[in-house]
Amino acid sequence: MSIADAKLNKKQVVEVYSQIAFFYDVWGNLTEAKARSRALQLANIQDGESVLEVAVGTGLAFREIVRMNPNGQNVGIDLTQTMLDRARKKLGQTGAHYQLAIGDAYDLRFENARFDVLMNSYMFDLLPEVDFVQVLKGFKRVLKPGGRLVLVNMTKGEHFYQNFYELLYRINPSWMAGCRGVQLANTLPKAGFKNVSREMTSQLGYPSEILTATL
Ligand SMILES: C[S@@+](CC[C@H](N)C(=O)[O-])C[C@H]1O[C@@H](n2cnc3c(N)ncnc32)[C@H](O)[C@@H]1O
Repeated sequence: MSIADAKLNKKQVVEVYSQIAFFYDVWGNLTEAKARSRALQLANIQDGESVLEVAVGTGLAFREIVRMNPNGQNVGIDLTQTMLDRARKKLGQTGAHYQLAIGDAYDLRFENARFDVLMNSYMFDLLPEVDFVQVLKGFKRVLKPGGRLVLVNMTKGEHFYQNFYELLYRINPSWMAGCRGVQLANTLPKAGFKNVSREMTSQLGYPSEILTATL
C-alpha cells in the first residue's frame, strides 16, 4: 500500500505544532494513549538507563519515561519550542532529573552509542518517505550496541473505518496536522536494525503501529 506524500516542511511543522500545542494532549489521549502505553511497556526501561525521546512533543510519553527511570539519563528533543514548553510544564511537577531541548531528528547532536533506548512517536507520519532511512540511521548511530528502538506511527488501517483519518489527510492534510499513515517495518532493516517486531492498535478508529527493534 503506498504512503501518501508528506506535505509539511520543517518550518511548517513548527508553525502547525506551535498553534496546536495547547490542545495536543486532548488528541493525544483520545487517539494515541493506548499505543503510547504499549510502546512504553515494550521499551521495558530499567532504572539507570540512558534514554532519548526524539520528537518529545508535549511530554506525554516522556513523563512516563522519567517516572520509570528516575536514576538514569532522560533526554527529550523536539523541533517545536511551544511543544517543549508544554512538556517542561508537565515534567516540572515530577521533580525528576531530565533534559529537554530543541533538536532535530535529522541532526542528532549526541555522540555515537550514547543511549540504551530511543523512543519516537508520531513523527515519521510527518516526514517524507524518502528520508526514513537517513533519519533511522541517525537513530542507530546514537544507540549503544544492543540498544533498543521503539517507534510509534500513525499507520494504514486494516478495516475500512480505520482509514477515516487517512481520508481526512487526503482531502486536507492540515486537518490531520500533517500526519498520514506510514509503515516502517520493512524500512528498519535497511537502516541496520534487527529483530524488528510490529504490533497494531486502534483507538477511536485511529490506527497506530508500534515497532520495536534492536542493534
Ligand atoms: C504528532 S506530534 C507527536 C508528539 C509526541 N511524540 C507524542 O507522541 O505525543 C509530532 C511532533 O514531532 C515534532 N517533530 C517533527 N519533525 C521533527 C524533527 N525533524 N525533529 C524533531 N522533532 C520533530 C513536532 O515538533 C511535534 O512536536
